[in-house]
Amino acid sequence: MRISVFSSQRYDREFLEAANAAGRHVLHFLEARLEPGTATLAAGSEAVCAFVNDRLDADTLAALHALGIRLVLLRCAGFNQVDLGAAARLGLAVARVPEYSPHAVAEHAVALLLALNRKIHRAHARVREGNFALDGLLGFDLHGSTVGVVGTGKIGGCFARILLAFGARVLAFDPAPDPALAAAGVHYAELPTLFAESDVLSLHCPLTPATRHLIDDAALRAMKPGALLVNTSRGAVVDTRALIAALKRRQLGGLALDVYEEEADLFFRDHSAEVLQDDVFARLLTFPNVLITGHQGFFTVQALKAIAETTLANAEAFEARGAPLHPVALGPG
Ligand code: NAI
Repeated sequence: MRISVFSSQRYDREFLEAANAAGRHVLHFLEARLEPGTATLAAGSEAVCAFVNDRLDADTLAALHALGIRLVLLRCAGFNQVDLGAAARLGLAVARVPEYSPHAVAEHAVALLLALNRKIHRAHARVREGNFALDGLLGFDLHGSTVGVVGTGKIGGCFARILLAFGARVLAFDPAPDPALAAAGVHYAELPTLFAESDVLSLHCPLTPATRHLIDDAALRAMKPGALLVNTSRGAVVDTRALIAALKRRQLGGLALDVYEEEADLFFRDHSAEVLQDDVFARLLTFPNVLITGHQGFFTVQALKAIAETTLANAEAFEARGAPLHPVALGPG
């Protein structure tokens, strides 16, 4: 199958070419983001491969369909960037990688939490400047603290187990609680309880209409003063402007983000020689208690290998029986 791989980086090429060592597919790597204006670059392919910030809206999908594309291979787990209704109407199959390494993202969330709490980002900069003063670097023990987990699927479940091993009291909210986690010691509760009692709140739910701006001004005001918030799910699960207000009034004790609502124009590229145009993002960067990474939670060797292999397995299943291995169906949400 000839596959046009949009938004591709050097590492995508490396791992997809390794997974395609037998040469079963022709991979056409494109740096361009997939959107209505770039869809024609897929001419001559039977499938496109897309990532988190590609824009698979009705216009893009119609343009792809007109070129003869029949399969969209998402090389990620989330699928909020796809208009599934439009895909279904056009008869376009959409596939994803439902699980590659939940540990990769959960461990990154823990890394962010530890760094934020113990101010590692500031300590590192100070030591390099020859400043060994500790004032301003005070953290708290995670052992014995209360950690709230929103969404206990594959990633949230891993995160909860790591925090249990730290000796934290883990509260969780999920419309579909996991009995195995409850048996392991996670206490399921409603969101207001998580907001009121958590010293740390970590978000691991998908972005859906129900979770868009789940953490808004009201939620932030209901949170324990000084609590830390970690978001490695999707940027729009939080209302960024409300976060800035909560940081300014010192309600929020610290914020760690791996995802950002308007990340599509920023992340995965080097903008270091440009003038930053996003004033909200620029404001976030000014806080000493905000730590941001550019959507790298998935970025481990094991995860990239699994993503590449499952993406090509989806293509092969589609070739063999007309349906990918892991289809994304139009759901109620
Ligand atoms: P999953 O499908 O295994 O788990 C999601 C969980 O969220 C489910 O248990 C579901 O019941 C729960 N949920 C649904 N609606 C909810 C709500 N309103 N409130 C609370 N919980 C709710 O998904 P997985 O693999 O754990 O991934 C979670 C999310 O993490 C993805 O949807 C994606 O947005 C994000 N992600 C981020 C990555 C990164 O690199 N930063 C990489 C991969 C995923």
